[in-house]
Amino acid sequence: MTVNAIRVGSPASLDTLYLDTLPDCGQPGPGEIRVRLRASSLNFHDYAVVTGMLPAAAGRIPMSDGAGEVLGVGDGVTEFKAGDAVVSTFFTDWDAGPPKSAAFTTVPGDGIDGYAREEVVAPAHWFTRAPSGYSHAEAATLTCAGLTAWRALFVDNAIKPGDTVLVQGTGGVSVFALQLAKAAGARVIATSSSDEKLERLRSLGADETINYKTQTAWGMKALDLTAGIGVDCVVEIGGAGTLDQSMMATRVGGHIALIGVLAGFAGPVQTALLMAKNLRVQGLTVASRADHLRMIAGIEANGIKPVIDRHFPLADLAGAFRHQESGRHFGKIVIDI
Ligand SMILES: NC(=O)c1ccc[n+]([C@@H]2O[C@H](COP(=O)([O-])OP(=O)(O)OC[C@H]3O[C@@H](n4cnc5c(N)ncnc54)[C@H](OP(=O)(O)O)[C@@H]3O)[C@@H](O)[C@H]2O)c1
Repeated sequence: MTVNAIRVGSPASLDTLYLDTLPDCGQPGPGEIRVRLRASSLNFHDYAVVTGMLPAAAGRIPMSDGAGEVLGVGDGVTEFKAGDAVVSTFFTDWDAGPPKSAAFTTVPGDGIDGYAREEVVAPAHWFTRAPSGYSHAEAATLTCAGLTAWRALFVDNAIKPGDTVLVQGTGGVSVFALQLAKAAGARVIATSSSDEKLERLRSLGADETINYKTQTAWGMKALDLTAGIGVDCVVEIGGAGTLDQSMMATRVGGHIALIGVLAGFAGPVQTALLMAKNLRVQGLTVASRADHLRMIAGIEANGIKPVIDRHFPLADLAGAFRHQESGRHFGKIVIDI
């Protein structure tokens, strides 16, 4: 049976994304599984691929996140059986341990074809089990955003009850970070450009909120909210344009998880402040398959469910990205396949 897929056009843009029909995936070979994909979710990284901000090959099938059910397994596969619910890993060749590469050549939807398609045959280790009780749409939010938030708090840091975490904005990574930090017993300071979204952050458990548009010196405000001490960890999704405020907000010896580029790819850094406060700025790119499995155990133990803003059908992938581009979303945007 043929398989529908969306591909990146040439030149890459939301207007040139196109629907293609692929031949039948065939039976899985040794070590492989065949998956009926049911959902994907949007990340800024996928947006960068489909709009040509990142140089992906013309015709690339985008989307790093994929969740669905196993249709069949090849010889030697013991981890899965037909009918199992699975979710894709971000890196296809990072099983465990420290990062191995700065390249995205093995990332579905970037260096290799991704999951904007109905079916795939792939090595079994490109997937893990999905959390029990999760829908495919919920599982599809974990591959990139969920795991990145997990690593920031629990792999590169050891957030514990009583710590203070600052999360920026209301996108996929930040809302996950808020939920995970609260589950760990931390106090959370959350920022947003919208008072309405700040209200939603409070209903999700944020202890303090700051509008970063009206309070541009939000780093000082975070210091005030911690009696001048500063937060233990900042989940930094802005990058160059927000780092100064994050350094201001962080306690002496604290940690900034440098994740995103939404406020710029490069810029001047107050190196003297970095030094004086003995800060640790840790860059990160998602995490390994072993961390992904630990995240699944962590969210199952705490009953965490992702916040899904809206669903779009695969055929309207461009519409989904336009919604993300508008910045109106809160949490994750999901594609139903
Ligand atoms: N390094 C990694 O492994 C990794 C993994 C995942 C994502 N990322 C990066 O992390 C960033 C966020 O990704 P995402 O998928 O969560 O994006 P997203 O869901 O599209 O998040 C967008 C939201 O971020 C907030 N935002 C935008 N500019 C901001 C600023 N200057 N200050 C504070 N908040 C701001 C806005 O929230 P409000 O509307 O509430 O203001 C906006 O709605 C992106 O740069 C992405 O590339 C990196």
